[in-house]
Amino acid sequence: MYNLARELLFKLSPETSHELSVEMIGAGGRLGLNRLLSKAPARHPVSVMGLQFPHPVGLAAGLDKNGDAIDGFAQLGFGFIEIGTVTPRPQPGNPKPRLFRLPEAEAIINRMGFNNRGVEHLVGRVKATRFKGVLGINIGKNVDTPVERAVEDYLICLDQVYAHAGYITVNVSSPNTPGLRSLQFGESLKRLLEALRQRQEDLAQVHGKRVPLAIKIAPDMSDEETREVARALVEAGMDAVIATNTTLGRDGVAHLPFGDEAGGLSGAPVRDKSTHIVTLLADELAGRLPIIAVGGITEGRHAAEKIAAGASLVQLYSGFIYKGPALIREAVEAIAALPRP
Ligand code: FNR
Repeated sequence: MYNLARELLFKLSPETSHELSVEMIGAGGRLGLNRLLSKAPARHPVSVMGLQFPHPVGLAAGLDKNGDAIDGFAQLGFGFIEIGTVTPRPQPGNPKPRLFRLPEAEAIINRMGFNNRGVEHLVGRVKATRFKGVLGINIGKNVDTPVERAVEDYLICLDQVYAHAGYITVNVSSPNTPGLRSLQFGESLKRLLEALRQRQEDLAQVHGKRVPLAIKIAPDMSDEETREVARALVEAGMDAVIATNTTLGRDGVAHLPFGDEAGGLSGAPVRDKSTHIVTLLADELAGRLPIIAVGGITEGRHAAEKIAAGASLVQLYSGFIYKGPALIREAVEAIAALPRP
């Protein structure tokens, strides 16, 4: 079924096909039809960040940026859903074309640039959903907010989404917003985390619930930088780390059509880089903070590799585009077949 849909969708431009897919998944969700499209994954319950997940395979950020199709994605079998990245104000993102398929490499290059309808719209969509599972909300900054004032944008988003999120992801790793990735390092990171943690405590008082804060990092870091980030997260008292976002590297795709397009590369070519970061984080964190692994899972066994490397949960994006909802079940089964630690 998905093969047929994919054949049709891949005839359209990547962005048209993306928009149409999200719309169809959203509509299917409203009608309760999506359950018919995929066999439900087995239950493999896990508890992470104090939250209960029916199984550890979730939807990564960026596919449902505005929260328009939450019920639809949930019905396809995801164990949790992350929406966003959302910014305080709506913004159009980069000029088109900005999304490229590299099917020979099971890869995607994107330079979307946080196109989204703003946090107010997203909160409205979340309020309208029937979804009762874990909803992650991924927050960022507007492109025209200077990076020195990025903290203000993250705080605006945090305030708005707090009451509606299962967990909140601080995205400092998109390569498509100039300067954003500088927030991953040194004093900038410390200042950002301190401000967010303080606001998290305040909001926990106001709302009577503590919503976990995760940070999403890039794969393009040296080993020492990765370890430093890990230490900073523990020190700041963050609740989880998501590894990783897309890469600026072009290993394995430079020779392919669109391989030299600017933007972040995702899918199979980022897999090993991303798993390497998970391994380093797991070593440095030694269980003090859970890891959510994302990057290059295109087969069930890749999801199991991420868990074996030290992750507690995984997320899918490019693999889901290429393989469809069957990949969710395949990933859950491969993880369930791992020997218990
Ligand atoms: C993304 N990704 C992403 N991540 C994020 O935190 N916020 C976002 O808005 C987006 N947007 C986005 C758009 C597109 C078109 C792609 C392909 C990816 C990154 C995504 O969540 C994931 O971290 C990477 O794509 C790596 O995982 P995969 O795709 O290799 O499974």
